[in-house]
Amino acid sequence: MVFDAYRLPEEHEAIRAAAREVCDAEVAPRAAEADDTATFPQASYEALRAADLHAPHVPEEYGGAGIDALGTAIVIEEVARACASSSLIPAVNKLGSMPVLLAGSEELKRAYLPPVAAGEGMFSYCLSEPEAGSDAASLKTKAVRDGDAYVLNGAKRWITNAGDSKFYTVFAVTDPSARSRGISAFVVEKEDEGVSFGAPERKLGIKGSPTREVFFDNVRIPASRLIGNEGEGFKIAMKTLDHTRVTIAAQALGIAQGALDCAAAYVQERQQFGRAIAEFQGVQFMLADMAMKLAAARQLTYAAAAKSERNDDDLTFFGASAKCFASDVAMEVTTDAVQLLGGYGYTKDFPVERMMRDAKITQIYEGTNQVQRIVIARQVLANVGS
Ligand code: CAA
Repeated sequence: MVFDAYRLPEEHEAIRAAAREVCDAEVAPRAAEADDTATFPQASYEALRAADLHAPHVPEEYGGAGIDALGTAIVIEEVARACASSSLIPAVNKLGSMPVLLAGSEELKRAYLPPVAAGEGMFSYCLSEPEAGSDAASLKTKAVRDGDAYVLNGAKRWITNAGDSKFYTVFAVTDPSARSRGISAFVVEKEDEGVSFGAPERKLGIKGSPTREVFFDNVRIPASRLIGNEGEGFKIAMKTLDHTRVTIAAQALGIAQGALDCAAAYVQERQQFGRAIAEFQGVQFMLADMAMKLAAARQLTYAAAAKSERNDDDLTFFGASAKCFASDVAMEVTTDAVQLLGGYGYTKDFPVERMMRDAKITQIYEGTNQVQRIVIARQVLANVGS
């Protein structure tokens, strides 16, 4: 059950209904297997592709569904309610392609957005490195201009959907003396000579979404694959995250909603002391807190999505706040769902233990929640009195 403070436009309710139908029928039944076997949920990808929900953000002029930021958040929320790993298909397609959308030349947009929209290839985002996680500006991967080309060398780490994606946005140093102003963004293709991948990480959650290292060994790409201008890469990376932290918030909402739905159904079935445990006030108070926090997280996330769509000046604050708040709520709600199911919740007979493991990453990726709080505090301090 969802309690909405504001009624969404009919168009967005229709997007939710369409996404839920596909996810209930095609994605949810495969979620446990993707988790158990740590394999990419290809059948879920195909179901999302058939419904045009695999990269809903791509504008119509590039062959996409042209769904706005709120609609895309709703799609991701619904997919995550069924299977968090699968929700990284639309989420990371947006993350990987957003730099091209925000700053790419028309040529780059025409070359790389239509195949993503058509489901011919996914798009990953390569910012983090073994020694550059929270301190994203301390990258070591280098791109050196050589005539009409750039030559890339280095290693990226924690790259979602690496190996399965066909396209990669790669942030690399073009001027080592300029720190964040010496970083540039490029599109690299999986098939480019010199690109290779590490073994899949063995993770706590989102096991159906491969996370691998990506290595660049003298990868020579045409200079036309530079996104924007040299030196603009860090700002492009940060602006991208302003928009896509909203999608992680949406993913967190979906995971939490899935856990709340499961727990609310269970407590009405489970009999102890001669009655359904839903009749006990202690259980009701837990459910109330879960639903209340989720409703607050949803409102903040949808407000951030509206700001993303309008590209408002305060998107940095709202994107970080929504991601931080919703992911903390997802961790609390999923943990409480496991508690409400007791011993059963701790087993793989129910999906809540998977949801609790999946929720954890939403507090970590696209910037840890500690980094979000740095971003939020900087915005507060920069806007005193305004
Ligand atoms: N929009 C535009 N420009 C921005 C910006 C924004 N949101 N944030 C910063 N900038 C600009 C600044 O204005 C500054 O520009 P000038 O040089 O012109 O002054 C420049 O970028 C450097 O900014 P800072 O001095 O604030 O940079 P910093 O080194 O202090 O870092 C940080 C700030 C917020 C900690 C940043 O490093 C950060 O966000 N770290 C976390 C990285 C992250 O989120 N990684 C996630 C990887 S992706 C992932 O997880 C994907 C996945 O698998 C799903």
